[in-house]
This record gives sequence, structure tokens and C-alpha cells, in this order.
Amino acid sequence: MTILNVDRLEKSFGALMAVNRVSFSIEPGERRAIIGPNGAGKTTLFNLISGELDPSGGRVVFVGQDITKLPPNERANLGMARTFQRNNLFLGLSVWENVRLAGHPVKGVSPRAFGSTQSQQIQVVKDSLERVGLYERRDAIARTLSYGEQRQLELAIALATQPKILLLDEPAAGMSPAETNRLLGLLRDMPRSITLLIIEHDMDVVFGLAEHVTVLHYGEVLANGTTEQVRNNPRVMEVYLGVTEAQRSKPRVNAAKETT
Ligand SMILES: Nc1ncnc2c1ncn2[C@@H]1O[C@H](COP(=O)(O)OP(=O)(O)OP(=O)(O)O)[C@@H](O)[C@H]1O
Ligand SMILES: [Mg+2]
Repeated sequence: MTILNVDRLEKSFGALMAVNRVSFSIEPGERRAIIGPNGAGKTTLFNLISGELDPSGGRVVFVGQDITKLPPNERANLGMARTFQRNNLFLGLSVWENVRLAGHPVKGVSPRAFGSTQSQQIQVVKDSLERVGLYERRDAIARTLSYGEQRQLELAIALATQPKILLLDEPAAGMSPAETNRLLGLLRDMPRSITLLIIEHDMDVVFGLAEHVTVLHYGEVLANGTTEQVRNNPRVMEVYLGVTEAQRSKPRVNAAKETT
């Protein structure tokens, strides 16, 4: 059974086809990476999958249901969670409150499986913070966290909704090598009940986590296959991996935003 099917998905911004007839399927429990040069359409693809943007064409099917026309909160209630390329935190609130707020009703609908009683909800918040290693920091104000910790907090917020699939947009961007390593360990330890779809420029994370890789290039799928197949694909090496090696010798924060 497929958990997520993207079928000829399209998004145009004026004359630009940011996502151009993209199709792929993901199996439950899979770890899938989406890679591609800056501007390839990766974040736009995520926005189409999570409902932040309406597609110009195509369909998104999640857990057997056509969700193409559903708003983001209804997709979340079906078990889809995501993190953003930029931090999306309440910086003036505590770590605990940031995760706690993930359980607040959206348009009268409580997030799925967040627990109906207060003690269940507290347990979910605690479990999520423990999983990302932030439980000890629960009373810290989000603003005072390191950049890496803020990304971990975003992950805890997503986990608190107990998703079936988790979409991560460049979770390692801006992290130190030590923070990146920690993140990788954390993602590798996630239960297989959570399917992972991850956009990432850091090839150590991609190859350390993903079994399957989809390569986007100018909005189109350039390659799709197992990590080994994609790693050895000459076209991929030419248009992407070669570029990445060069970028990786520069500071990461600059490399991630080079052409945008
Ligand atoms: N709201 C928008 N309006 C117009 N053009 C947009 C919009 N969002 C994205 N684009 C353009 O669509 C293309 C794909 O952008 P997108 O952000 O999806 O790329 P990306 O693969 O995520 O890049 P990066 O690796 O830099 O994050 C780019 O050319 C971008 O400038
Ligand atoms: Mg992006």
C-alpha cells in the first residue's frame, strides 16, 4: 500500500513552471529524500503536498484519500506534519508552550491523536520533547535556544501531532556539524510508524538516512530510485552532486541560499 502518491503535480508562477508534472509514490515507513539544486522546486512541492499552495494541475493522494483540495489543517488531521525551511516558532514562549500550542484546536478541530484529557496531552508534549532531547530545556524561552535547538523544537512540535508522515524542509540547514550529527541520529531513531520525506542539501544526511531519493531539476523529476541508483546516476552527478561538492567546501549557511 502507498501512503503518499503525487500524480502529475504542477505549479506555475506566471511563466515559471516551479513544479512540472511531478509523480512519485511513497510506501509507509519509507525514508525518502528530495534533492536538487537551489530553485529546483523542492519547497514548492512540499507546499503543494501540505496544502500551503494550490496546484495548477495534478493530484495528491494521502492514505488512500484525494487531498488535493483540502486545506492544510485538514491534511494535518489526516496525519501529515511538516517543518519549514525557516523557523516558525513563538519566540517569546517557552519550549514547553511551543509544543503545547501544537495541540490547540484549529478551526474547532483538535489535532488528531493529541489526546483528549489534559494528562494525555501533557504526556504527548513530554514524549515529543524527550525524543528530540529538549525535555531538560522545557522552561527555556524559545528565543534563547541555539539555532540547532530551535530546529529540534520545530521537530518536537511536528511530532506532537503524532503524524503518519513527516515532511522536513532542510532540517540541517544552518546547523553545526555536531548538531547535524545529532539530528541525523534522531531521525534514524524515529519509529517506522512515521514515514519521512526530507528535503536536504547535506549529502551526509541524505545518504545516512534515505533509502530512496527523488531528484528535482527545474521543477521536473530528473531521477528517482534507491539511494545507490541515484548516487551512481551520471546525470545526477553532473547537474547536482558535482555542484554540491563545490558548495560544501564553502560555509553551509551561504551555500544553502546561493541562488535565491
Ligand atoms: N510564491 C512564489 N512566487 C513566484 N515564484 C516563486 C514562488 N515560490 C517559489 N518561486 C520560484 O519557484 C522556483 C522554485 O522555488 P523553490 O523555493 O520551490 O525551490 P527550492 O528547490 O526549494 O530551492 P532552495 O534549495 O533554494 O530552497 C524558484 O525559481 C523560485 O524563485
Ligand atoms: Mg527550498
